[in-house]
Amino acid sequence: MSKRWYQDNRRDAWRRIARSKGYRTRSAYKLKQIQDRFGVIRAGDCVLDVGCHPGGWLQVAVEESGDEGLVIGVDLLATSPVEGAMVIIGDITDDSSIERINATLGGREINVVVSDISPNLTGRYDTDQTISLELSTLVLDAAMRFIPAGGSFVTKIFQGTGIEGLVNAAKDRFSNVQRFSPTASRNSSSETYLVCQKRLSRVRPAARGKSALEQVNEHLSGLGILVEEVDEDEETIVGFRRLNKDE
Ligand SMILES: C[S@@+](CC[C@H](N)C(=O)[O-])C[C@H]1O[C@@H](n2cnc3c(N)ncnc32)[C@H](O)[C@@H]1O
Repeated sequence: MSKRWYQDNRRDAWRRIARSKGYRTRSAYKLKQIQDRFGVIRAGDCVLDVGCHPGGWLQVAVEESGDEGLVIGVDLLATSPVEGAMVIIGDITDDSSIERINATLGGREINVVVSDISPNLTGRYDTDQTISLELSTLVLDAAMRFIPAGGSFVTKIFQGTGIEGLVNAAKDRFSNVQRFSPTASRNSSSETYLVCQKRLSRVRPAARGKSALEQVNEHLSGLGILVEEVDEDEETIVGFRRLNKDE
């Protein structure tokens, strides 16, 4: 039997297990394995799940935070109701979504932000990895608007160019940052999770006055990957894409 056959079979095994236990996605087991290893969600916690559709992680977050917990999900796509969770349709990079999350909190404080966010994949690994790096970095910046000192953050990342920039930006903001690959992820996948615990009360000097996105862009520039700045109506939006040096 081919390696691919074993990988597909194992992936399907997780899907079967998830379905038999009533979880909407195989990914639910990735969060369960992160939880088993790091205990990021505690009973009574307020959890924000960024990129929550179709709701597998929301189900796990509701179980782990218990009756006293509060779980809020946000996604571009509508999610069928998950008992015990509140869901917002929106783009996490939009200020309007941040305002709606704040309004939903009703004065409570978010303890942990978890994110399995993924862009629409093109199938071209370099492009997908670059877009995903930017998206995960923007989620870190959004999470920093909510997480108090001591709080936790989990995000999906795809291995590749520039990832160290994001890992370093996380290390400037949290005292404990580790990469973790759940066995429920495909063996062939380059997907892994960045598990950040104990938000620092003050960012480390290298990050002072900078967003994580600015730090990642600086890291990419240091690697010789040019960063593009787009001016839109006086507002400067910083993003990156790969450019040929002579472009
Ligand atoms: C892999 S799915 C999440 C699966 C989920 N963890 C589960 O177990 O059900 C990734 C999600 O990220 C969402 N997403 C991508 N970009 C987003 C953005 N800018 N804001 C909010 N959600 C986004 C996608 O719509 C997609 O539903």
